[in-house]
Amino acid sequence: MSFELLVIGGGRMGSALVEGLLSAQWCGPESLAIVESVAEQRTVLSDKFVGVRVLSSLELEHVGANTGAVLCVKPDSAEGAARAVAMCGVRRVLSVVAGLSTQRIEAAFVGPAAVVRSMPNTPVLIRKGVSAIAGGSYVTASDLDWAESILGAVGTVVRVSERNIDAVTGLSGSGPAYIFLVVEALIEAGVHQGLSREVSRQLVVGTLEGSAALLSQTGESPEELRAQVTSPGGTTAAGLRILEGRAVRAAFLEAVAGAAERSRQLGR
Ligand SMILES: NC(=O)c1ccc[n+]([C@@H]2O[C@H](COP(=O)([O-])OP(=O)(O)OC[C@H]3O[C@@H](n4cnc5c(N)ncnc54)[C@H](OP(=O)(O)O)[C@@H]3O)[C@@H](O)[C@H]2O)c1
Repeated sequence: MSFELLVIGGGRMGSALVEGLLSAQWCGPESLAIVESVAEQRTVLSDKFVGVRVLSSLELEHVGANTGAVLCVKPDSAEGAARAVAMCGVRRVLSVVAGLSTQRIEAAFVGPAAVVRSMPNTPVLIRKGVSAIAGGSYVTASDLDWAESILGAVGTVVRVSERNIDAVTGLSGSGPAYIFLVVEALIEAGVHQGLSREVSRQLVVGTLEGSAALLSQTGESPEELRAQVTSPGGTTAAGLRILEGRAVRAAFLEAVAGAAERSRQLGR
């Protein structure tokens, strides 16, 4: 029996995608198969995704003319997984594997294959991710639409050229960690001002959620929104002056540049 979509690797990323695809009704469960090498994880997946086939390995019979595959395995297993899907006749692949170029995935195929590379971030696990996609040598607009529809089930999607994927990795791929560091520091700052840790956490997480919603719902720029809470000579101005004096803005510029450079090194 052939499937519409094969999810190769049923770990955190593969499971999040299957969950998003089913809940967005991208296809019915009978059209999806997950290929997972770990037996205990296969049991977990079968219990969680009723009606979705969970396979230990891919066979020719699972692949029809329109079957696509999503590579969701760790980088060190990814080229082997690409060769396995190529051998079974898959011609359209979306990869979420960090650091693996479309060229290296294409090399697993004999002849042209449509390969779309993506860089999602961890909030895809709760369907609030942001992913960038980039097409390889043989992709068409419909291949990119296909990839966007899959990752769109777990968040928002932007299109970039592949040379920008390292920048995306340094910005939104690593971005949740930068934000968590800021949150940690602010919670600690609240504690230093005499608030209990729990109250400080509630205040900081609520501030983060509310600020993100203001940005996305009003469409106003961060500069405009910041000006609205910064009265001349007021409390926010006093706090911001210290952050600017400590070069926080420059630190973020360097952090993203450093992470992007590390992504370039790892991909070589
Ligand atoms: N998690 C994220 O937020 C995130 C963000 C951006 C990109 N990514 C990328 O997403 C990929 C998957 O990450 P993850 O966090 O989902 O990893 P994970 O939880 O470790 O899941 C990978 C799963 O795939 C299995 N597997 C490995 N090779 C296989 C094969 N050839 N056929 C079938 N199953 C196979 C693994 O089994 P074994 O344990 O035996 O290897 C494991 O169960 C990585 O390449 C990562 O770079 C993840």
